[in-house]
Amino acid sequence: MKIAIFVSGRGSNLEAILKARKQGLLTSDFIVISNNPKAKALHIAQTYNVEHYAFEPKPKKIFEEKVLLLLKEKHIDYIVLAGFMAILSKEFVKEYEKRIINIHPSLLPSFPGIDVHKRAIERGVKFSGCTVHFVNEHVDEGCIIAQAITSISYDDDEESLAKKILNLEHKLLPQVISWLEQDRIYIKDGKAHIKDEKNGSTFNPDIEVFNE
Ligand code: GAR
Repeated sequence: MKIAIFVSGRGSNLEAILKARKQGLLTSDFIVISNNPKAKALHIAQTYNVEHYAFEPKPKKIFEEKVLLLLKEKHIDYIVLAGFMAILSKEFVKEYEKRIINIHPSLLPSFPGIDVHKRAIERGVKFSGCTVHFVNEHVDEGCIIAQAITSISYDDDEESLAKKILNLEHKLLPQVISWLEQDRIYIKDGKAHIKDEKNGSTFNPDIEVFNE
């Protein structure tokens, strides 16, 4: 399978994916695409010897045209948004319908969009986590594939919560990519399900709760 990972900044999720690939837990060929030529993630791609490309983000139409051309040229099957901080146009999403996944640092449908940790702390929720979902034309609304959760304690702040959730992201995203590689994710009645490894029946992945 050929997968393009879209990044914009730090790239810690990218690194978790490339580590999993190096350990043999993932088998895909990856390329990395950034809308930020200065992204630290590009250095990570370089360290792992992975083809990487950066395009100026504006104008968006040109950015997406260039990216689509590259995706076709490289015969990309799936796109993983791993800290990609731009919204893809609905035309772009249509080209790769049900073949784009995103990781979001909250338990969707709670706290879509930005500033999620701040909003979770301010709202006083007792649990948060991360969600991997298919991307559709509405931001953070595509079907949910998997989630991982953590508790929020009274002394957590934005920073400590972000750290806890990022740890979960680094486990969840490689796991979902491995399910994609094994063709175990399917959508029925607007919901994503995971097939059991052995007998093909649907299973519920364990939800991990990480207490401090
Ligand atoms: C991650 O927390 C990811 O979930 C979030 O940005 C961070 C990127 O970190 N993505 C979004 O908020 C997308 N809406 P990373 O660059 O170290 O992987």
